[in-house]
Amino acid sequence: MSKKINKKKFHKSYIVCKCKQVSLGEILHAIKENGATDIDDIEDYTEAGSCCGSCRSPEDDVGEEKLELYLSEILEKFVK
Ligand code: FES
Repeated sequence: MSKKINKKKFHKSYIVCKCKQVSLGEILHAIKENGATDIDDIEDYTEAGSCCGSCRSPEDDVGEEKLELYLSEILEKFVK
């Protein structure tokens, strides 16, 4: 199953956090099942965003090569 985020489709197995190898599916699980409502919650449940921090938001992305999907975008889309 894939999810549409900002017009682009990402499969649940898409790795959002490269450092900790956390997939979109795991992040959605943290939001839907554990009730995560912000980036710190997601970090607590999945460890995503706890290393270089680039996956947290475009502003936090310090890498040369920019990521395609950020935790901030996922939260915006799925936390109501
Ligand atoms: S890519 Fe998520 S902490 Fe580095």
